Amino acid sequence: VNSSLTTSVLAPPIPDFKAQCRSIQPATGHIFDLSQAVPSYPTFPKIREAVAQSVTRDEVGFYTDVPGLFDLRKAIADTHFLISDRDPNRVLITSGANHAMFTALMLHCNAGDTVLLLEPFYFNYDMALPMLGLKADYLSVAEADGMQLHAKKVIARLEANPAIRAVILITPNNPTGACYAAEEVLEVVKWASPRGVEVIVDETYLKFDPHHLNQSALSPYLGKGLTLVGSFSKCYSLTGYRVGYLVTSPDILRESLKIQDTVVICPSHIGQIAALEGIRVCEEDVRREVARMGGLADKVREATKALRAFRLISAGSFFAYFKHPFTHLTSAQASLHLFEATGIIGLPGTVFGKSQEAYIRLSISNVSENDLDRALGELIRFDDSCATRAKEKML
Ligand SMILES: Cc1ncc(COP(=O)(O)O)c(C=O)c1O
Repeated sequence: VNSSLTTSVLAPPIPDFKAQCRSIQPATGHIFDLSQAVPSYPTFPKIREAVAQSVTRDEVGFYTDVPGLFDLRKAIADTHFLISDRDPNRVLITSGANHAMFTALMLHCNAGDTVLLLEPFYFNYDMALPMLGLKADYLSVAEADGMQLHAKKVIARLEANPAIRAVILITPNNPTGACYAAEEVLEVVKWASPRGVEVIVDETYLKFDPHHLNQSALSPYLGKGLTLVGSFSKCYSLTGYRVGYLVTSPDILRESLKIQDTVVICPSHIGQIAALEGIRVCEEDVRREVARMGGLADKVREATKALRAFRLISAGSFFAYFKHPFTHLTSAQASLHLFEATGIIGLPGTVFGKSQEAYIRLSISNVSENDLDRALGELIRFDDSCATRAKEKML
């Protein structure tokens, strides 16, 4: 490999950490894989039926238009609450949200520019920056702020570092589960837009926050300083179909077609059919699953009140972010220790930023209620033994 664009980038962290776990036999004999954000429910039956029928049609084996199926772009424009003019020409279908973000960064930044990430960050976006010749600036969100977005702190950093050309905000957030207040997002956008700083909001988990970007004043900024990046992976359980979207202005969208044509030509045709069926007939199924997963997060909040050594920092429908008690261990060592004692595979905080040694992320959504109960039981038992040992040491 001759390109330093990739050699400085960390290896895909989830398989990397799971490979480390493989050499350990957990004491409980059962493995709770809470490492990756995959819905615990399979693709809805209505989508599968539509897909099964579609594959018999010749055209489904062929490319779609470069920006994606018109009907899917229209369905997004018709249903997304921030697209007030309902113009499908604002919507680019992508091969997932990661691809949408890569496209957004290419559109709005020149090599050498800096992008602001809130830390803990979603690791794939930190990985994307060097590959595009971009630099990262990191602003930590504070435990004391409940891991929430504070517009004033973001603006202060943007003022202090004029090399920043874009800021990435993720709400609902991975890894913390925090849902940002729409007013705070708006305040950042209002500051950034006239100064030529792009605010790229990743709304992959939008359906899991009933108040998501609930601020119509954001609409006029779409394509004028605000880009939305979204996904069908999580809400319709289509992670393997690889479909997402980007929303901007029709002008910027036309420019994005150069990237799209070069990288994928078009997103997977069958994946787009699946996403369209999701929008058309699965909203009720999504509401049911969202309510159920909200219940999982409540369960985590309730159960973890009993913790004495570990501490729950924040939780949302997909993620719970914990502070571990092992001050002498790295987050990777602490996560392996947790796995050995409980069978829970989480992810070390440092996957989400160098400052995150004290934390472990659990993806609470990808197991059944029953398994989540069992995993929480194991966590509380382990926590109890950690707290007791710590107390004995102090005596
Ligand atoms: C915040 C965030 N953005 C994007 C993605 C990737 O989504 P997609 O499957 O649509 O590429 C994920 C997946 O975990 C995510 O957590």
